[in-house]
Amino acid sequence: MVKPWLLLPASLSHKIAPLYLKYCVGEGPFPEYDWNAFEWKGLQFKNPLGIAGGVDKDAENIFNWWTLGAGFVEVGTITPLSQSGNPGKVIDRDVKNKALWNRMGFPSKGVDYVSNKLSKIPKPHHTPIFVNIGKNRSTPLEHAHEDYISCIKKLSPYSDAFVVNISSPNTPKLRELLTPTHLREFLGKVVEANDQHEGKPLILKISPDVKRPDLENIIDVSIELNLSGWILNNTSTIRPNNIHFPADGGMSGKPIGELSKDTLIHVLNYLGDKRTGKLIISTGGIMSPEDAIERLNLGADLVQVYSSLIFNGLSFFKDVNQYAKSK
Ligand SMILES: Cc1cc2nc3c(=O)[nH]c(=O)nc-3n(C[C@H](O)[C@H](O)[C@H](O)COP(=O)(O)O)c2cc1C
Repeated sequence: MVKPWLLLPASLSHKIAPLYLKYCVGEGPFPEYDWNAFEWKGLQFKNPLGIAGGVDKDAENIFNWWTLGAGFVEVGTITPLSQSGNPGKVIDRDVKNKALWNRMGFPSKGVDYVSNKLSKIPKPHHTPIFVNIGKNRSTPLEHAHEDYISCIKKLSPYSDAFVVNISSPNTPKLRELLTPTHLREFLGKVVEANDQHEGKPLILKISPDVKRPDLENIIDVSIELNLSGWILNNTSTIRPNNIHFPADGGMSGKPIGELSKDTLIHVLNYLGDKRTGKLIISTGGIMSPEDAIERLNLGADLVQVYSSLIFNGLSFFKDVNQYAKSK
């Protein structure tokens, strides 16, 4: 099938996509894509396939994702203050290898804009809405927790769960928060503040580039602080030999599929019995219906896509629904 958007420069199709969703996909009716239905902490997922962080940064297209049949929606990353993305080229793609590259750096209309948007979505939400939060580029690392707390305070009434994003490679030093030196102190403050508000589930999004001992430390600290789950993974800074993206920025799509699967398997094995009640979301290189089902069979509760929407198109939700029902 011809995919005309792949003939346009990546930055242009990226700009057009929200308009296409709004005017061509429309808002309803919502299809009944009910496969692998799942309930967690009172949240009902009619199916376990959602959009990953960064796809709908400012919560502009929630009804459109529901019209396409998403089982849940994650919006963000949202920063407290509105900020533009990094200057220069921020997105590129390698069609042959089904890989994306980005160094966006959290362009966000800010927490007030998004809370206003989310306040207009009728409750109960048609699917769960996860809100992915981050820090402004200008906030020093030692004050990072204040940015996350400020987002939690403003967005708690509208969010079904929060995703704490400290794994983007595109905000300077952000990933340092995932290291043993910083993680407990940072997360401890965020968890405490969240508990004092509505105590919405907190899910930590992890980088695929952390070494195994650090990954295990992240899991240990998360368990100790009673976090609700993990998203495995964000984009990667690895560059296989056949991929010619710049060294900075994050890569996603097919080339990170194995890495993401390995992390999922490692985390599940490491957790053992402690996995009970925790939410595990697999993302990274899910490029076909078979990939989505494989992640679920490996033990993920939910799966998310970004790159697949670029390389396969918006029929992905329908395709996976059909495939899952044919099994
Ligand atoms: C252009 C682009 C922007 C992204 N922005 C965000 C973001 O704002 N927050 C976030 O948590 N992840 C972001 N991601 C990472 C995705 O959520 C996902 O973790 C990653 O792309 C791996 O999934 P995929 O292989 O299906 O694309 C972004 C990815 C891309 C390609």
